[in-house]
Amino acid sequence: MNSTRPSGKANIITTRNKNMERSDYNGNLRLKDAGRKVTLVGWVSNRRRLGAIEFIDLRDTSGIVQLYVGNPDAIPDVRNEYVVQVKGEVRAKEVPNPNLPTGEIEVVVEELILVNKAENPPFIIADKTDALEETRLAYRYLDLRRPIMQKRLRLRAQTVKIFHDFLDENGFTEVETPILNLATPEGARDYIVPSRLHHGRFYALPQSPQLFKQLLMIGGMERYYQVARCFRDEDLRADRQPEFTQVDIECSFLDQDQILTLMEQALAKLFKETINYDVPLPLRRMKYWDAMDKYGSDKPDTRFDLFLIDLKQLFANCSFPGFQGNGYLKGLVIPGKGKETSRKKLDELSMEAKKFGIKTLYSLKFNEGALNGSFTKFLDEESQKGIISSLGLKEDDLLLFAYSEDRRQIDFGLGALRSLFAKEMGLIEPGTYDLLWVVDFPMFDPVEGQPGLYSAEHHPFTRPRDEDLPLLDSDPGEVLAYAYDIIINGYECGGGTLRIYDRDIQWKIFNLLGLSDEDVARKFGWFIDAFKYGAPPHGGIAFGLDRLCMILSGTDNIRDVEAFPKNLQAVDPMSKAPGEVSEDALEEVGISITDHE
Ligand code: AMO
Repeated sequence: MNSTRPSGKANIITTRNKNMERSDYNGNLRLKDAGRKVTLVGWVSNRRRLGAIEFIDLRDTSGIVQLYVGNPDAIPDVRNEYVVQVKGEVRAKEVPNPNLPTGEIEVVVEELILVNKAENPPFIIADKTDALEETRLAYRYLDLRRPIMQKRLRLRAQTVKIFHDFLDENGFTEVETPILNLATPEGARDYIVPSRLHHGRFYALPQSPQLFKQLLMIGGMERYYQVARCFRDEDLRADRQPEFTQVDIECSFLDQDQILTLMEQALAKLFKETINYDVPLPLRRMKYWDAMDKYGSDKPDTRFDLFLIDLKQLFANCSFPGFQGNGYLKGLVIPGKGKETSRKKLDELSMEAKKFGIKTLYSLKFNEGALNGSFTKFLDEESQKGIISSLGLKEDDLLLFAYSEDRRQIDFGLGALRSLFAKEMGLIEPGTYDLLWVVDFPMFDPVEGQPGLYSAEHHPFTRPRDEDLPLLDSDPGEVLAYAYDIIINGYECGGGTLRIYDRDIQWKIFNLLGLSDEDVARKFGWFIDAFKYGAPPHGGIAFGLDRLCMILSGTDNIRDVEAFPKNLQAVDPMSKAPGEVSEDALEEVGISITDHE
């Protein structure tokens, strides 16, 4: 032991200190600092009395350092989350703590100043917490003190900086676009803001800066980006927030391949600099219908090998009346799940598939060299043999299958089951990343139950592939578009398209989406007119910043990477927003509420 070691008898001052002098951040102290006098500030994270001495963990934004107090009785009531200032000397610890970056040292307290008291917090402020998320959100300022939350917010800031740097180096200019707008058709419901000066008229908050970034291209900016807040009033999920952030990008005179190549370089830089992961470039480009056929999703998670199989040929001689049409018959082999998949479980799976429109889910099990299940009565021996050998069935395999007239329906339905089993069977290795582009999206999505009516698969400004332009008149459902999504671990982390820059085609697309000429003129005339003045070919993408950060942080909850998110009911549990406003305020904007919650 060092003979000059300080005694640890602290001089305790309990008055508040206005001068928050500090020599170091707690988490930065290392063995090389041993012998140095330091002044630290922070929150008491933990206090442990060991007979005559006491240890305090002191936390600040950089991390935690252990304080050694030689005369704990002289310390007043310093409890968890009290704010203190400490003067002392760094010394090597006799028994290092390998779990803490500062674990090789401790600070021997010579003076401890109580700066502010704290009530007992509603949950323990540490990375591991069993507090309900709703409580964490209601006391977000305490939740944010957890080191893991600060780490996530820092990673988010780093992500933004990496994009800023990359885009700046590549000649992009950041431009802000308005928040109070006319509605943009991105497919979700708008958040609307009443106008005080124009009763009965409303602004819409941007679902994205789509129209403005295109106008910036017509305005000659050529390369634009913006870290843009977007607002969408849609049903919330683990990866969806009502307000979120896009890294929004647009450029002129680049083709799809050039845009994807540039953007994947940005992603590779991001993964390298944040989590030191080498993204192999170029990224795979998978066609939309290939993704749907094989993975049952337009955002396929290709980290596990469970594929949708076309059963049409194998079931050609099947006598089941429900399979006789021209529809799609597809299935999924779940290895080793035959026995444990009970009737009840099959019912649950059917319910899941039903959400996507699949009416009935059928199953067969393979045991002792034969197919089992009531469906076997529709399959002759030859067909059964063919199924077993072609699918390579092994003992206890489960074959799930379904029939539908609708291609998207069958794919999405079975795709959902694929994901479900992957989770259940632990088929995904944690810490692995899978990045790919899905390209060649259809231009239109047929509106269910309304033949001949379409919605835009991406958005109405997406350019149809040149070779598919004639199909706009004959078979719009078959038109593919210059549209691409970046998929990471099964999440859609960004999406973009080349844009229409011809006024007539844009008009026609609006018509196909069900807008009359009057509607187009009234809603979009201001925008489409800009195309008359020499619009350059242009295209772009928007990355979902929150989703990217979610993946980089290794969480599957988007709320973990936002400082102050809303809960699944779109409420902020802390402020309780949305709130009521006074009758006067409503009157000013010409609104009266008839239907209170
Ligand atoms: P899109 O609607 O695909 O494209 O959005 C781009 C990306 O934004 C993210 N995202 C969301 N993240 C969190 N919560 C939400 N509610 C939410 N909605 C979308 C996703 C998505 O991939 N204007 C076009 C882009 C373009 O064409 O350039 C657009 O907004 O990661």
